[in-house]
Amino acid sequence: MTEPKKIAYFVTGTDTDVGKTLVSAALIQCFADQELRVIGMKPVAAGCYQLGDQLMSDDVAQLILASNIVAPIHHVNPYAFSQAIAPSIAADIAGIEIRMEVIEQAYAQLAKEADVVIVEGVGGFCVPLSAHFDTADLAQKLALPVILVVGMRLGCLNHALLTAEAIKTRGLKLAGWIANQPNSEMVAFDENFQILNQRLQAPCLGILDWMDRADFKDGFVERVARQLRLEKLGVLKV
Ligand SMILES: Nc1ncnc2c1ncn2[C@@H]1O[C@H](COP(=O)(O)OP(=O)(O)O)[C@@H](O)[C@H]1O
Ligand SMILES: [Mg+2]
Repeated sequence: MTEPKKIAYFVTGTDTDVGKTLVSAALIQCFADQELRVIGMKPVAAGCYQLGDQLMSDDVAQLILASNIVAPIHHVNPYAFSQAIAPSIAADIAGIEIRMEVIEQAYAQLAKEADVVIVEGVGGFCVPLSAHFDTADLAQKLALPVILVVGMRLGCLNHALLTAEAIKTRGLKLAGWIANQPNSEMVAFDENFQILNQRLQAPCLGILDWMDRADFKDGFVERVARQLRLEKLGVLKV
């Protein structure tokens, strides 16, 4: 009997704070709704707090909460740093070198246990992780199709198109993109969306307006998940 094909994506964004974690958690939820075993991974997290003898980040906590299988924290998040700064700088300060092989091995362990792995990148697509590699190299090494979260704000056209170009240059597939408005104000949302929709050569998996978290209590991720069109990825039987 042949193993069913693994589903895995690398979620990148046009910047930090554009909704990568929110979308990653919602993607996990969508796949979990299909009765698949799903887990999120955050290879490198900065801005962590001490939780017992672990360094934990809000991103990792959100991915764990959305996932429907459990894995050791050092596989879900191999590298954690306390300072909320660029990862290679945080690693230097901590006297640690971020190593590709460590992340690769952690990913392989998750992929063994799960049907679906959603890997959230760090910041934008080309953030250095050490003197030797960046997040784009990581996506390439893991050979993952990329989902791009566009933070719909001024500057997003340039950031989104440059990111799409970088994904292509790395020989990776842009599997889909999401227009997410992370701030309450966005002038000319529709016009910006149309330009991106014409130029990005991938399906738009969702348009997410800014939503006031206070209106949702516990249902924020579920609300986002309901707005994603997973079928456009073409990997589900539905
Ligand atoms: N569409 C949205 N409506 C309201 N808040 C949002 C939206 N998208 C993101 N946010 C909020 O913006 C912040 C940054 O989002 P996050 O997913 O953590 O971004 P990233 O992972 O890219 O750094 C979080 O507090 C998140 O809840
Ligand atoms: Mg994040």
